[in-house]
Parts: sequence; structure tokens; C-alpha cells
Amino acid sequence: MNKTTLAEFLTHAELAEPALRGMITDIAQACKAIAVQVNKGSLLGTMGSLEAQNVQGETQKQLDVISNDLFLQMNQQGGHYAGMASEEMDEPYLIPERYRQHGRYLLLFDPLDGSSNVNLNLSVGTIFSILRCPHGISEPLVMDFLQPGSAQVCAGYALYGSSTMLVLTIGQGVHGFTLDQDSGDFVLTHATMQIAASSNEFAINMARQRWWDAPVQRYIADCQAGSEGPLGKDYNMRWVASMVAEVHRILIRGGVFMYPVDARTREAGGRLRLMYEANPMAWLVEQAGGLASDGQQRILDITPQGLHQRVAVYLGSREEIQRMATYFKA
Ligand code: AHG
Ligand code: MN
Ligand code: MN
Ligand code: MN
Repeated sequence: MNKTTLAEFLTHAELAEPALRGMITDIAQACKAIAVQVNKGSLLGTMGSLEAQNVQGETQKQLDVISNDLFLQMNQQGGHYAGMASEEMDEPYLIPERYRQHGRYLLLFDPLDGSSNVNLNLSVGTIFSILRCPHGISEPLVMDFLQPGSAQVCAGYALYGSSTMLVLTIGQGVHGFTLDQDSGDFVLTHATMQIAASSNEFAINMARQRWWDAPVQRYIADCQAGSEGPLGKDYNMRWVASMVAEVHRILIRGGVFMYPVDARTREAGGRLRLMYEANPMAWLVEQAGGLASDGQQRILDITPQGLHQRVAVYLGSREEIQRMATYFKA
């Protein structure tokens, strides 16, 4: 079998920005390093929680911090970035000057998504997003990061599941690579991933139902009514509590993923983070033929107001997200 490695893929891809080759290669290396840490599991004694809380108000896991540090260290050395920002850091990370001085890009990331699952040996991942740095800025400020998702030049995730995968877009479809543990190569196994337009699988944290708004109540009620209800078909439910795993499932076999704003999260704006989670996933989903909305508008059109801003997220199969939009308008 002829295998296309990530390196070959990047050599033959028409890269609008030549620097993407180096940036994606570095990201792949960093994800491999995180995969090793996750994979060793309890052998390293790093499965526990820390005392510290991050800026999100979450208790950090040891592996949140280890993954964050690995991602910073392994991506800054290429000299591509003027700045980086992460779910785990209050402020943008100040890259040492020798690496930052010619950097033309910004890297945003969720170093370990689904980290509540990490000591359960369930799937976790890393989510990343690359933006251009506004011209001439060598010490970027928060406002320089606040670009809409439509401005991303690369977005993707690594999934540390039963195999390790890297799934990414540079605006030319979505392509998935599986880590060959023997050779150390990421091999193209899922070219041009497409989300089925219709589906009958939804993912939502049902435990929060009593706090949902009416449109979400109605959408899920219709799904649950199944073949006896207005939709005339039966639905299935999944909840991994790891957005990377949910989006990956949707890329493979369709479905919808929802994290609404509810009565408990309204003040915060929602649960998931716009810059580290919603934007990169929204671009991947759109590039695979699906839709991603906050209930009112396309996620990629949101003008960010803050680095750690939270949003409602509804993404996945086109027909389902369109139906949900009609419920929000009703
Ligand atoms: P993170 O581990 O990066 O903080 O993100 C967790 C997110 C997301 O992956 C998942 O969809 C959601 O939180 C799970 O939320 P519940 O705790 O409500 O299940
Ligand atoms: Mn977190
Ligand atoms: Mn996350
Ligand atoms: Mn995280």
C-alpha cells in the first residue's frame, strides 16, 4: 500500500502560506509528545489534579499543565509565532525574543481537551488554531488575538484515542492522519472527510436539561419522540464529555453536538471557549460540509470580545443545524 505521510502531504499541498509546512510539522511533533505522556498514563504518576485553578475556574489536572508546557516549548522554536494563547494561561504567552522577532503568526490552543476523562483512560485531545499576526507586531496584545474564526489559516485537533490521529484544515477540506507507532509518521488515512447532511445522533449533556432554553428543549424533545414524533425517525444519543471525541465521531458518521447557553452558564456566555474550542472546530465542521452556529449566527462570524470568551455551540450535520436554527427563530 502506498502511504502518504503528513510530510508528503504538506510537500504536495498548495500552501497559500509556505510557513504552514513548518508550523504543522511542529504541531504534529508536539501532539506526539503529548500522546506519549497521555499514553503512559498512571506509569508516570501524572494522572492527578493540582491545587491550582486556571483562568476558566477549573481545577487543573497535572496533564493539563504538562501538555500546555510541551505545546508552548515545541511550537515556539520554529520562529513562526509572535505570540501564543491557551485555555490554561490567563494572559498571552510571551515568547522569548529570539524566537518571536520574525514571527508572523499567532497560535491558540486547548492543550488537553476532555481532561476530566484523562484518568479514566477515555479519549482526550488537543485543539489548535493559527491566525496571522497583525502586520509589524512583535509583542502581540490580547486585542491582536481577537480575530473572527473566519480569519484562521489553519485549525485542527489531535485525538488521543484508541489510535492517535491528527485532523486538520488549511481551508482545502479536512484531512485525517493516523500515527503509525512503528515509524513515528502520521499517515493520511482519512482524506477529505465529509459530514453526512442528515443524521439521527445527538450529543448533549442531558443532566443540564432543566436549565435549557425553549428552543433546545424542543429540539431534544422532538429527537426523543423519535418515529412517533414530528421527525418520524428514531435518534441515538452519545456524550463522551470530550469535544474532540464528539467532533471526531461527527466527522466520521455524522450527528450533532450541542453545548447550549443555559440558565446556569448565561452569565459566563456558555461553557465552551470561542478561541480555543468553538472556532477551530467550527471551521473543521464547515470544511467538511457541516454547519456550526451559536444559535443566532455562524460561529466563524463572531467578533471576539475576550481571549477566554465562552459561547454556545451547535455543530454537525447540515440538516439538523438548519432545523435547530428554525427553532431558535420561532
Ligand atoms: P476541557 O477539558 O478542555 O476543559 O474541555 C472540556 C469541555 C469539552 O471537551 C466537553 O464537551 C465539555 O467540556 C464537557 O462538559 P461536561 O462537564 O458538561 O460534560
Ligand atoms: Mn479545561
Ligand atoms: Mn476543551
Ligand atoms: Mn483543556
